[in-house]
Amino acid sequence: MVYYVKRGKVPEQRHTYDMRSHIPKEELFGLNAFDGKYSLLYHRYDPAEVENTSVEYREKLSAVDLIEHRHLKTGSLGKLDNFYTGRQILFFNDTTTTGIIDTDATPDEYFRNALCDEVFYVQSGKGSIESPFGTLRFRQGDFIYIPKGTTYRAMINERSFFFFTISMDNIDIPGNYMNPYGQIKEGMPYYTRDIEIPEFNEINDGEGEYHIMVDYGNYYLKMTRKYPVNDLEGYDGYLYPFTINIDKFAPVVGKLHMPPPVHTVFESKHFMIGAFLPRLFDYHERAIPVPYYHNNIDSDELIFYSSGNFMSRKGIGEKSITMHVHGMIHGPQPGVVEKSIGAKKTDEVAIMVESYKWLLPTEKAESIKDKNYQFSWKSEWD
Ligand SMILES: [Fe+2]
Repeated sequence: MVYYVKRGKVPEQRHTYDMRSHIPKEELFGLNAFDGKYSLLYHRYDPAEVENTSVEYREKLSAVDLIEHRHLKTGSLGKLDNFYTGRQILFFNDTTTTGIIDTDATPDEYFRNALCDEVFYVQSGKGSIESPFGTLRFRQGDFIYIPKGTTYRAMINERSFFFFTISMDNIDIPGNYMNPYGQIKEGMPYYTRDIEIPEFNEINDGEGEYHIMVDYGNYYLKMTRKYPVNDLEGYDGYLYPFTINIDKFAPVVGKLHMPPPVHTVFESKHFMIGAFLPRLFDYHERAIPVPYYHNNIDSDELIFYSSGNFMSRKGIGEKSITMHVHGMIHGPQPGVVEKSIGAKKTDEVAIMVESYKWLLPTEKAESIKDKNYQFSWKSEWD
């Protein structure tokens, strides 16, 4: 849950009109039927109007049936058109996909994910997400959150690189970060004020031809409307897209090594998204700054490396992804523990998806894997 927002003109009371001569079209944009978080949107035009539709089937994802620790150099995948169809999926399960987008194209059409909440980490570039809620600008270091069902257009101002996690499971701010009043509590890595919401726009668009791709997983439903998407006179509620920038985060540090859950940004039923950010290391006089070996008995740990010096891992660069799988032990490579003693701080930026439901690699992931990574804990490896 985020905070209550009211923008533009809304009737004095819900489900009523203020003037008989001007009755806006009210839409409930809400989760879990009528019980989840929601916003009330007041359209100038009929939001349900559709002129015609067509269906475009998508290529089915196939998994590589081999569980092993992996290192992928995603920078080698290259640019693809566009923010919707250029999603290069690297790992997936039956509810969640994760991967990268590298694009400089602004699509002509709008997009709506009918099934999934979407979270994008902006590795580089800038642009905006244009939706009925207004203009949501993004820049390097932003997490962009787009709730399922949002109709939007991704405006790319310069070549942009994103790491994404998209899921049928609702993605939200962690429940344990919130007090009963809906405010983010003291002691959490970010605060309510750090959440940036779209700048609400005056309506400029008139009748024309508007195209929307609705993502239904196996296919896109392509709709044409004569009424514009961005036609709100106003809205209020708790459900809308937003961004949080990593510069606003205050990472939690401790006397001894703090485990990844303290770095959570978003939570979901089957995974969490976290951010390892520049911070001071543990201050015990004999602290070991790098993580201890861990055996992810029942979870997979995917990390996207954004910038800085990744002290616990050799051979890793910007835009690398590592996947450390359930059933295999992992940790610092040989010599790293000894080398880390006395280090006071780290400048690393890395985004983690810890998945409690296994994530399988795609053929694309397999095509860019570092074949030696599985053996990188051998002492002679470099
Ligand atoms: Fe790990």
